[in-house]
Amino acid sequence: MRIPDSFLDELVARSDIVDVVSGYVRLTKKGNNYWGLCPFHSEKTPSFSVSPQKQIYKCFGCGKGGGVVNFVMEAEQLPFVDAVRLLAQRANLEMPETGEAQGVREYRQRLLALNREAARYFHSVLRTPGGAAGVAYLKKRALSPATVTRFGLGAAPEGWDNLITAMGEKGYTKKELLDAGLVVKNEQGRLYDRFRNRVMFPIIDLRGEVIGFGGRVLDDSTPKYLNSPDTMVYNKSRNLFALNIARKSKQGRIILTEGYMDTISLHQAGFDCAVASLGTALTSEHAQLLSRYTKEVVICYDGDGAGVSAAQRAIPLLEGAGLKIRVLQMKGAKDPDELIKTQGRAAFERLLEQSENHIQYRLDKLSANFDLSDDAQRVEFMKGAVELVASLHSAVEREVYGARAAELAGVSPEAMAAEVKKELRRRLFREKKQQERRDLTPAQQLQPKARGLRYENVRSALAEEGVIRLMLLSPDLFRQAEGLEPEQFSSPLLGKVYRLLRQRWQQGLQVQLAGLAGELSGEEMSHVASFADQPESAAHAGRALADYIAVIQSEAFRRSGLDDAALLRAAQQRYKENKSYGGS
Ligand code: GTP
Ligand code: MN
Repeated sequence: MRIPDSFLDELVARSDIVDVVSGYVRLTKKGNNYWGLCPFHSEKTPSFSVSPQKQIYKCFGCGKGGGVVNFVMEAEQLPFVDAVRLLAQRANLEMPETGEAQGVREYRQRLLALNREAARYFHSVLRTPGGAAGVAYLKKRALSPATVTRFGLGAAPEGWDNLITAMGEKGYTKKELLDAGLVVKNEQGRLYDRFRNRVMFPIIDLRGEVIGFGGRVLDDSTPKYLNSPDTMVYNKSRNLFALNIARKSKQGRIILTEGYMDTISLHQAGFDCAVASLGTALTSEHAQLLSRYTKEVVICYDGDGAGVSAAQRAIPLLEGAGLKIRVLQMKGAKDPDELIKTQGRAAFERLLEQSENHIQYRLDKLSANFDLSDDAQRVEFMKGAVELVASLHSAVEREVYGARAAELAGVSPEAMAAEVKKELRRRLFREKKQQERRDLTPAQQLQPKARGLRYENVRSALAEEGVIRLMLLSPDLFRQAEGLEPEQFSSPLLGKVYRLLRQRWQQGLQVQLAGLAGELSGEEMSHVASFADQPESAAHAGRALADYIAVIQSEAFRRSGLDDAALLRAAQQRYKENKSYGGS
């Protein structure tokens, strides 16, 4: 659908980028811009900046950038139209509706209705002979009928087309079943049920909609779990199992587990704040999602090596979302489900109380890698501990954990503190160097990051960037750029941006990057944002513009000259060949 430009302008004007970004990132003002930790990649020192004047953001670390609409698209992982809709709601603006968007929305609703029907069906199977094995399995896992109802658990019977038939009777088409991920097509084009002979776990989003399923085998066959693929209504990186229940918990934190069964067992034992990521490693989107519902997360992964390394990977992501983190160390059982089953809820409660602050956890894990009675290994441990302590943001934390690390390493707290200070200085120096490098980037590095956008002619492209920067700064300069045409630009992307901005100027719309969110890809937008924010003086703008145009046009002339020369050579060649054939 095409959203009218005038609406987009109104929306952008009413959605201050600093306000919007502040909903996701803690920003601090430095100079003209605001800075914070980038929400799109994990980092410890802020390289994400927001310019209130230009109403754009950009990250020097991962290179993402754009206007307010791009930010929402990226942060919420929404397509353009949905991001506009979200901002419109926020700004209290009525969204202009067009047919296509409406159609897409209706289809999503239809898939959600289908998922709900399927969940009802799987649940109802438990009361039929076909569900007897499933019922027996759930009983074996010690799930009470109340728990089964609460989570809407069910069973997929044996057979290839039970669900296809049942949903067909309700009027759902094969295409809908395919698009919802409930059926699979084989190489001969035949459809069959994705979930067969499994117990079924519906995945419910925060609005209470069934968006997908997990299904577990009843025995030891593989794959143990089968999950819905990502669909129009389901994305595993953005949803957490049982968050719909856990977000209403009064326990003041969220317990993060690795498995469906772990989470369900915890709920059954009264820990109604448990959630699980869905057969996938935790993502930064999960972390952002969690941070909307809690301040503290307790990581409660399996006690094996995989669980420990998964926890280590999850910590920086959760930290990046501003969450307080504790880590529960599983003792005497492989996972929370088994612990509760064999030792009872009180045992879990104790582990929960003992669960450590993640820094202590990481120190413990680090020290476990070394034999601290050996001098050489103690030195190696010290190195790791110094890195860890130096990475902590607060001076108080550095002091407290520095002292603990010193004790583990058998050195004085002063010696440790001195090493940490040295490391901090090294880090500061490294960052300064990086900043300098960014400030003095040579032309090759000014190339766009994305391969498809490479500049053919860097000299011309830099001038083209300059023109765009100037037009964003003072659009009336378009008057002075009469003879400059998008076709003369050497970079197709920059030519396109110039054309779109000029169109906006001609139509009396705002000449701003944010207005191009619907026309440029995320990659293209990130690149434009990265050069749009470089300084450009308004004072000598007219002069600068003339210089830029001169460069662009002379390069364009040279290119067309080259083309002409090539044409001429080709013509001469043909002429010679003809002559040699015809003339003999
Ligand atoms: P059980 O107690 O054996 O039922 O499982 P669990 O919940 O303890 O899960 P486990 O620790 O074995 O695995 C953790 C999570 O990883 C599961 O809940 C699933 O989401 C996912 N998972 C496990 N096995 C598979 C598999 O074979 N395929 C896929 N896609 N995901 C799996
Ligand atoms: Mn388990």
